[in-house]
Amino acid sequence: MVATEKPKSYEDLPDTSPMGAPLDWAWLRGAKSEWGVRPKPGPRGLTMLDIAVGSYAQPDDQPSHRSMAPRGADVDPDTPDMGYILNSKSDVWADNVVELYEEAVARQWSATRDIPWTELEELPDDVEHAMCQLCTLLTEVEMIAADLPAKWMWRMNHDFIEAKMFLCTQIMDEARHAEVFRKRALANGGGLLLSRSQPTSLLRTIIEAKTYTQATALMHLLGEGFVLDIFRMGELIAPTDVEKRIFRMCMQDEARHVAYGTLHIRYAIEHDPDVAEEIHEALDHGEMVLTDFGSAPDVSTALAVLLAGGTEHVEDRGFPMSFEMTKKQLTSYFARCERAGIGRLDRTKVPLDMLGLDVDAIKAQGGTRGAA
Ligand SMILES: [Fe+2]
Ligand SMILES: [Fe+2]
Repeated sequence: MVATEKPKSYEDLPDTSPMGAPLDWAWLRGAKSEWGVRPKPGPRGLTMLDIAVGSYAQPDDQPSHRSMAPRGADVDPDTPDMGYILNSKSDVWADNVVELYEEAVARQWSATRDIPWTELEELPDDVEHAMCQLCTLLTEVEMIAADLPAKWMWRMNHDFIEAKMFLCTQIMDEARHAEVFRKRALANGGGLLLSRSQPTSLLRTIIEAKTYTQATALMHLLGEGFVLDIFRMGELIAPTDVEKRIFRMCMQDEARHVAYGTLHIRYAIEHDPDVAEEIHEALDHGEMVLTDFGSAPDVSTALAVLLAGGTEHVEDRGFPMSFEMTKKQLTSYFARCERAGIGRLDRTKVPLDMLGLDVDAIKAQGGTRGAA
């Protein structure tokens, strides 16, 4: 082994470059207490959880800097303010966000490669139309869940880097969802069908929310929660194994988005109880807009035809199944609100009794541990 020369002491190093420019060796002097700590890769590789050691682990509740300096670095006091407005950890954080980021990275898939497109088969006209109508709607609404995080991310303090990284994965997921439903609409001889005003009013409500936490309640908890339940019922909706596969793949992604939103809302309320009222106000309005959207004539008819396997049994089978599906969506939404610490049962204007929703079942489901 070749003996290495002992490094010079920083005091012996030059103050100027050979060209006369001033030099700074301050980075060579400093060493945090974590210096020498070597996080060990686990079976999955080196995860963000593995490197969450010592003072690098968690952001402060109120970071002192508003620059893009990496959390944990020694930061000059005169670094510029980037104009962040979400500077409290409770504005954006969720206890599961680091794990969700790792999961998202591990489970990326390709709408080009991972869907067995060659197995698509010719379907009866009514079923193909219904599938294309559903895909038209989904292609339209998926990208709101990319636009919304994009709208807020540059306003988030950079110390909350893991939350921003997770939202980047959500943006990529939504691009893929828009892609896969657009592809499905076009791949089997159908195409994109009707787009009407109801989705737009829901999407505007989400994008125009006044605070990020209101926005995430409207999007993750409410909007994406409903979409997640559509994907969960993909086995009933999908005419062939190709669509089943599409719904299954999207469902994994959507469950992460909803899981982040649910635990973000919980974190926000636990650390700043005053935020509960603003979330309630957003959901008061959001639930009404979503109800309009869900009962829009194009969505409800397309879903009923898919559930019935065609127009023939749309009345005796499609609509009753569709009604059951709505009940499931509402039940899981209200249970999710309970888990997020923003119980809506005493406040909502959704007619729980008229719809035959079981409040005890919602409370029981709300008491379970899952986040999505
Ligand atoms: Fe999505
Ligand atoms: Fe999503």
